[in-house]
Amino acid sequence: MPAQALTVFSPAKLNLILKVLGRRPDGYHELLLLNTAIDLMDRVTVTIEGEGVRVECDHPGVPTGPSNLAARAAEVFFAAFPDRRTGLRIGIEKKIPVAGGLGGGSSNAAAVLWCLPRLLGVEVSAERLRALGSEVGSDVPFFLFRSPAWAEGRGERLREAPGLPPYSFVVVRFPFGLGAGEIFGGWDLTSGGNRYTLGSLMEGEPPPPRDWVNDLGPVVFARHGETLRVRDRLLSLGGLAALVSGSGPTVFGVFPDDASALRACNLVNRDLGFAAELRHAVPGPVMNNVLSKAGCKER
Ligand code: C5P
Repeated sequence: MPAQALTVFSPAKLNLILKVLGRRPDGYHELLLLNTAIDLMDRVTVTIEGEGVRVECDHPGVPTGPSNLAARAAEVFFAAFPDRRTGLRIGIEKKIPVAGGLGGGSSNAAAVLWCLPRLLGVEVSAERLRALGSEVGSDVPFFLFRSPAWAEGRGERLREAPGLPPYSFVVVRFPFGLGAGEIFGGWDLTSGGNRYTLGSLMEGEPPPPRDWVNDLGPVVFARHGETLRVRDRLLSLGGLAALVSGSGPTVFGVFPDDASALRACNLVNRDLGFAAELRHAVPGPVMNNVLSKAGCKER
């Protein structure tokens, strides 16, 4: 019998809007997010093999022990379906910056939660799977949903946001990562300034780029001035918007077409020395790209 294995694309997200609405008694923050998946993707292979959960990653900055979100996702799944517990090897080919604000670890966790029912022939609703995902991390449910989407609460209350025009995104990487906890800890009510009437915001088409905002941006800019310089440069190069994604440090610019975006990529790289790449939104179910499967139980 062939090995039972599934390989899927595990995309990054951009937060087009990240409004912090307040601090909650549980220590988390109440959020309003507009998220999109983009074509910057890790590859995750889940193989039924051996005993225990083993993670292998080609990026040295990714922990391979039980703290890895993909490993935690497997543990949460097995806690919910204890009679299905089995040994796993989770292989991660990293393309998404680590601790970059693009949700890479959460996406990998979602990939594992997406693969396990298919590998093990377990019937589980998408809603239940997302609830398991939210036990692993705040961003995981989005990756088990559709893109683009509004997210509320910690990120678990999701609603589709169809109608996003095909923008060209310039995604700028920095050679360091940031911890979400530290950046959220630096936020205070005075740094955000509520520009929105939230009720009207979520009706109709997604708002235009000039209305996009990240309340954590000022915290990231204050700690790492180079992120602010990149943001300003993207705007001066014709960006319709330029923002930090999530808790940073990744900064992205929004351009009307590939030509203007590619020019911005080149100039940010040449003049500021940071790696910049052209990316596009990928609409529809976030986890639906099976690259290969072997010995899977059909559902
Ligand atoms: O849920 P997750 O483990 O991904 O969150 C990482 C950290 O980010 C949390 O420990 C918390 O400090 C911060 N966070 C927050 N409010 C949220 C999401 C994350 O304060 N809604």
